[in-house]
Amino acid sequence: MFKNDLTHPISVVTCRPELAVIIPTYNEVDNVVPIITALENALVGIEWELIIVDDDSPDETAMQVRILACHNPRVRVLQRLGRRGLASACIEGMLVTTAPFLAIMDADLQHDENLLPTMLMRLKQAPLDIVIGSRYVNGGTVGEWNKQRQKMSQFASQFAHSLIHAKLHDPMSGFFMLRAEVFHLSVRKLSGVGFKLLLDLFASHPETLRFEELPYQFRTRQNGTSKLESAVLWEYLLMLLQKFTGNWLPVRFISFIFIGASGVLIHLCVLWLLYKSLATSFIVGQSVATLVAMTTNFFFNNLLTYRDMRLRGKQLIRGWFSFILACSVGAIANVGVANYLVQAHSWWMLSAIAGIIVGAVWNYAVTAVYTWNKPR
Ligand code: GDD
Ligand code: MN
Repeated sequence: MFKNDLTHPISVVTCRPELAVIIPTYNEVDNVVPIITALENALVGIEWELIIVDDDSPDETAMQVRILACHNPRVRVLQRLGRRGLASACIEGMLVTTAPFLAIMDADLQHDENLLPTMLMRLKQAPLDIVIGSRYVNGGTVGEWNKQRQKMSQFASQFAHSLIHAKLHDPMSGFFMLRAEVFHLSVRKLSGVGFKLLLDLFASHPETLRFEELPYQFRTRQNGTSKLESAVLWEYLLMLLQKFTGNWLPVRFISFIFIGASGVLIHLCVLWLLYKSLATSFIVGQSVATLVAMTTNFFFNNLLTYRDMRLRGKQLIRGWFSFILACSVGAIANVGVANYLVQAHSWWMLSAIAGIIVGAVWNYAVTAVYTWNKPR
């Protein structure tokens, strides 16, 4: 419907509500009342709704929102089960509304809700696709961030400029408002991984987005804790890589391959230790090294590749077992294919690479279905 036409099928004038504020949450129960109150004060005179997308927070944020929604028709909750991820939560939130203007912000009051009316006004008046709350344009600040966090944000921003051509001051911002049709034009290309939705939107949109940055003061979090961990940096690098390779490799596959390569190194180290230093037989060294490498591969993949559906507790043992089983079959396929090619007089190196590719694709596909894709 939106494919070739930038005009939204729903009239901007008649559509109610006019603005949807989408807030992703994970363990933000104490911030729900304050953020709703803050929005009510800031958005007087605007037809708005709030969509909270909660990833089944253990602190029952979703239930708290539901209770408040009983008496407040502006508020809705979308509770996702067995999944994690800020960007994917925002995407799904944006998909459930009919509002022609969409705002994304955090639940923790770090973003200044008083900027929302100005953002909306700019989008309506000026030829703009997106308005971004920026900490790095004149008048904006990062508040009380420590030096390391400031450095990390600036480093990531510099990287971002090599991906998108727009000269954004704050490409890492999690606070912005855009036209719904702009979102719908790029939604199928979004990687949806990690924290960096804004960058993803710029990189995925078929045309250069017309944007404006408005300064605001990044406030200090009052309740709860930040969910930004160092694994987020890994997801960010993967997203960049996926965009650079023109979207043709799934982001998880890229991650899986990198971790597989680390497994080869680990394998060689363990083999060296056992066979060369401890003088075990080669077969013992090779078997132990294979098991160790498979195990580290499993844990790294669980932590990084499948961070959003991480296995824990009992599931971890079942997952590890299914991973070893799948990869053992993958190894047999690898050797079988390589051997077949060598016997058909292919060059040994090419045969080995073909075997490795078949094994890797098998391992990825099978573990994606059996190890990490069980409904929970
Ligand atoms: N649904 C869902 N699922 N929400 C999540 C998840 C998740 O896995 N992880 C975090 N959130 C929610 C939080 O509850 C919060 O409302 C919002 O996303 C931002 O998370 P924070 O943990 O507060 O992030 P931050 O303050 O460290 O990072 C902010 O600054 C970054 C700039 O460096 C965010 O605004 C980021 O979007 C921004 O990129
Ligand atoms: Mn925050």
